[in-house]
Amino acid sequence: MYRTNTCGELRLSDVNKKVTLAGWVQRTRKMGGMTFVDLRDRYGITQLVFNEEVNAELCAEANKLGREFVIQVTGTVNERFNKNKNLPTGDIEIIVDELKVLNAALTPPFTIEDNTDGGDDLRMKYRYLDLRRTAVRKNLELRHKMTMEVRKYLDSKGFLEVETPMLIGSTPEGARDFVVPSRMNPGQFYALPQSPQTLKQLLMVSGFDRYFQIVKCFRDEDLRADRQPEFTQIDCEMSFVQQEDIIELFEGMAKHLFKEIRGVELTEPFQRMSWADAMKYYGSDKPDLRFDMKFVELMDIMKGHGFGVFDSAEYIGGICAKGAATYTRKQLDALTEFVKRPQIGAKGMVYARVEADGNVKSSVDKFYTQEVLQQMKAAFGAEPGDLILILSGDDTMKTRKQLCELRLEVANQLGLRDKNKFALLWVVDFPMFEWSEEEGRLMAMHHPFTHPKDEDIALLDTDPAAVRADAYDMVCNGVEVGGGSIRIHDPKLQAKMFEILGFTPEKAEEQFGFLMNAFKYGAPPHGGLAYGLDRWVSIFAGLDSIRDCIAFPKNNSGRDVMLDDVMLDAPAPLEQKQLDELNLIVDIKE
Ligand code: AMO
Repeated sequence: MYRTNTCGELRLSDVNKKVTLAGWVQRTRKMGGMTFVDLRDRYGITQLVFNEEVNAELCAEANKLGREFVIQVTGTVNERFNKNKNLPTGDIEIIVDELKVLNAALTPPFTIEDNTDGGDDLRMKYRYLDLRRTAVRKNLELRHKMTMEVRKYLDSKGFLEVETPMLIGSTPEGARDFVVPSRMNPGQFYALPQSPQTLKQLLMVSGFDRYFQIVKCFRDEDLRADRQPEFTQIDCEMSFVQQEDIIELFEGMAKHLFKEIRGVELTEPFQRMSWADAMKYYGSDKPDLRFDMKFVELMDIMKGHGFGVFDSAEYIGGICAKGAATYTRKQLDALTEFVKRPQIGAKGMVYARVEADGNVKSSVDKFYTQEVLQQMKAAFGAEPGDLILILSGDDTMKTRKQLCELRLEVANQLGLRDKNKFALLWVVDFPMFEWSEEEGRLMAMHHPFTHPKDEDIALLDTDPAAVRADAYDMVCNGVEVGGGSIRIHDPKLQAKMFEILGFTPEKAEEQFGFLMNAFKYGAPPHGGLAYGLDRWVSIFAGLDSIRDCIAFPKNNSGRDVMLDDVMLDAPAPLEQKQLDELNLIVDIKE
């Protein structure tokens, strides 16, 4: 037997027991004739003691142990004289009488401790060592616990977990595909699923009326803190349901997770907001509602007073930061620079402070009388001590998005984005289509199988851009944690949808014929949703990036960074022999 106990297990009640432990040497300390070793495994740390006076040879061996050596020890559990209240095992120690080095180790490139001396890149490169650190390991433990709870919840609701293939054709989720060449079918490629969307719809035709899968999805898109090229969905689909049934069931899952994982009992129904309101009041389809700072439109009040920038604007709007009138000129200049950054693209920012006497002092005072400024103050419901920040522009949607960035930045600065606070919300009534400049046509905002709202179907012929969909996203703290829709199950409506999306009947048949044909054999009304598992875990763990809850994540250029001189350095060129087998010629364009 390698061990009788783990390193996190022994307590005062075990004193005098003979035990065998195995694990990694976290550190050794020599104090006089005694040597102390912290032995670590997944479960905790236990202190080992070697006494020179009792066994000089053994103690000499212990003094030779390096960090991260793998060892096995046998000894007796002893009550500690100097107890360590910070360790669950801190009341005891092991008086060692046998030591075996199972494996020596190179000195790790960074310390395996919570406050490690290793930077981000180094830790990613040696991810297997990083994963030994408690903080990182805890994230994976949380992830495990969450997937278990998800399975428990869905199983209790009659859902069946069904696996769908990874080697499939292109799926229409709107990102680029990762493709895999087929050796047996020269010149042909599989695409890795961006989601199992079409497959789960086929399962509905097959009668599996409650399906789920915790499944890897692949999307070749630009990476961000909450985006990985391969990520995991909790993918679900149900038959004979309407939007309300799906919202209720998956709100139930979110509540179950909050209760089981965070011990938070959410009793109220989650807030709902139409997409149009989300854009109007927060400039985003995933507003962070942990704080208010709703947009106030100021066109009526601020336009036409001789301030050229506002007079020519299509949109003028602002936010009111409570108690932020203390912002210095320097801080305001920095905020102005922030909104002018190319990624945000505003031309400038106007600010106004509400002073102690109620007067408003603004950066554009020369154009506005105190009377107008007071009207503005009233529009925000602003009080003495508040700071008003205003942006304007010639494109309403663009300016709102800029104002959204400003709102989030100010909230960050004011500490309003508390990771222990959770604001959940359903965004509903998404538009069916959005205009794509790149493609020069309407594109499906969610995907082409999304059902339009019944009351908007007539608009498909007259004003498709105004059609709203039975589509919904769940948002938590400004992150889209899930999304779904009711699907079209009527082939005629589906054909019309393809037509509006600019597919010829031939192209629609080529891409989606399999699904449309299946629908001819009795497709039930159905709909579903997919939650982003990585995003949920990172929110529950209070992480800034989903990378930290993924065992082996990719970096921002989509690369595996683990040991870039050995294996796992993906992507990488192929051997000529492999290219030949796959009938591939690589021609890298400049
Ligand atoms: P959608 O594209 O909205 O819907 O994806 C569902 C959820 O998956 C998560 N997600 C991601 N997480 C990490 N990295 C990514 N690159 C990434 N992309 C998406 C988000 C998102 O809300 N087939 C539909 C679902 C349906 O209609 O049932 C779909 O895939 O949390």
